[in-house]
Amino acid sequence: MSEWNTQAIILAAGRSTRFKTKKTKMLFNICGRAMILYPIKVLEELNIPVATVLGYQADLVQEEIQKAQVKNVTHIIQKEQLGTGNAVAITASTWKEKDILVLNGDTPLVSKNLLEELLTEHQKDDTAVTFCTTMVLDPRGYGRVTKKDGIIQIVEEKNCTPSQRDINKINAGVYVFSKSFLEKNIHKLEKNSVTGEIYLPALIELAGRQNLNVKTFAVPYDDVRGVNTLEQLWSVEQIKRSEFIKYWMSEGVRFELAQSIHIDINVKIAPDTFIGTGVHLLGDTTIGENCTINAFSILENVSVGNNSKILWHSVIQNSIIGSNVQVGPFARIRNNSSVGNNTTIGNFVEITATRIGENSKTRHLTYLGNTIVGKSVNIGAGTITCNFDGLKKQETIIKDNAFIGSNNTLIAPITIGEGAYTAGGSTLTQDAPAQSLSIGRSKQEIKPDYAHKLRKKIEEKSTCNPNQVSISDSPEEADVPLKFQGAIKADMKDSDSL
Ligand code: UD1
Ligand code: CA
Repeated sequence: MSEWNTQAIILAAGRSTRFKTKKTKMLFNICGRAMILYPIKVLEELNIPVATVLGYQADLVQEEIQKAQVKNVTHIIQKEQLGTGNAVAITASTWKEKDILVLNGDTPLVSKNLLEELLTEHQKDDTAVTFCTTMVLDPRGYGRVTKKDGIIQIVEEKNCTPSQRDINKINAGVYVFSKSFLEKNIHKLEKNSVTGEIYLPALIELAGRQNLNVKTFAVPYDDVRGVNTLEQLWSVEQIKRSEFIKYWMSEGVRFELAQSIHIDINVKIAPDTFIGTGVHLLGDTTIGENCTINAFSILENVSVGNNSKILWHSVIQNSIIGSNVQVGPFARIRNNSSVGNNTTIGNFVEITATRIGENSKTRHLTYLGNTIVGKSVNIGAGTITCNFDGLKKQETIIKDNAFIGSNNTLIAPITIGEGAYTAGGSTLTQDAPAQSLSIGRSKQEIKPDYAHKLRKKIEEKSTCNPNQVSISDSPEEADVPLKFQGAIKADMKDSDSL
């Protein structure tokens, strides 16, 4: 039971018509968390049990909530979206606590603090309803808070007279009702004559007419922004993102061009770390002390140790990067890879499902898939592990202190033993024993002084009959001067190799 003697209802059954998307707005992410989960997580922190009212795409929304493993949430299905009043009415069988907190599911910036203050205000005395209001320059889309015969009422956008449209005080969609008031009145709500919907805010006027205590609770607009359109979603995400960035700044993290950085709610960054322009830090990413994440790099579900550098334009997903590591620029690491301490992963290197041991280096233009690399291994430029045999992935093992020459093709399954060398340009299909040298390439043939002869031959052929030389359509030949095109063609008929 919550210390507040309160339970919550989150209204989330609507069709998201103003989003103009097939997907319900409840599932759109704000800084890496679905909108519906924002109020749910805050209520979990307050230990207040929640009933969500779901309708449009209920299954998908329910699935998302289940994935988040939040405690104390039940779901109620509203078959027809008859309005917010109806949505609350169908939860009546769950009402047990003294007070019922009702939140719109599309108000994701509501904080724990705000709800604590609201509940404190409501519970000070015997109150039928306390609801949040705010002032906003552009009140379009919100219910306006006004008074008629001294009684507070809320007039929805579609019901406003032209002068009511100018009212800047709005209903924020966050209410606390006493259970007894709700029980006696929820079924008195009628369909609105203009829209045919049953409006929850109409209860406020009803309470006033019964001379019951009705309280307004003024809050900052940014805490209760409603999200009815993709533009409002963008505004809300900007607010949330700047909140996180300001927090990490206060913890000693330097952001370059902070407004260009995307950061998710679960990201953690240690002090003295530098985050460059346009960096995306997504999901459960954790970055250690004194790291540099250079511009335009993207890290998703990545853990980085201390003193590591991720250079420009690198993309890392679902992987672990150790301490004192240098990655990039333009590196890609993914699929449960791990990169040990003091390693270097250079430019245009792709690593997937691979473990790399301490002090190893792969500096240029390499693909390592399903590979286990030991300690102090050097992998030359242009090395490729051929890990897919057409049916399944095969493993490459490169043991400690091995040296892989440049431009190697390692055909898995294959093991390169400890301390072994492989010659540059090798294609290797067999295991290389420890401390061996493997050479897997054709031998070089040398024709001494042949260059003069070859040049002469080319010249002779190119001047013999230019009329017979046709202009080629092939793009490779297009850049070769006309006279040489003939020479090359003629030469290729001979067995001379260029
Ligand atoms: C609502 C309020 C308005 C307030 C604004 C604050 C009503 C009638 N109006 O307007 O006074 O200023 O919020 O943001 O309540 N929903 C259901 N079932 C339904 C209809 C809606 O569960 O049958 C849910 C929606 O999914 C949404 C929430 O209730 O999460 C609010 O509905 P919405 O249509 O967005 O109301 P607003 O027009 O924003
Ligand atoms: Ca709304």
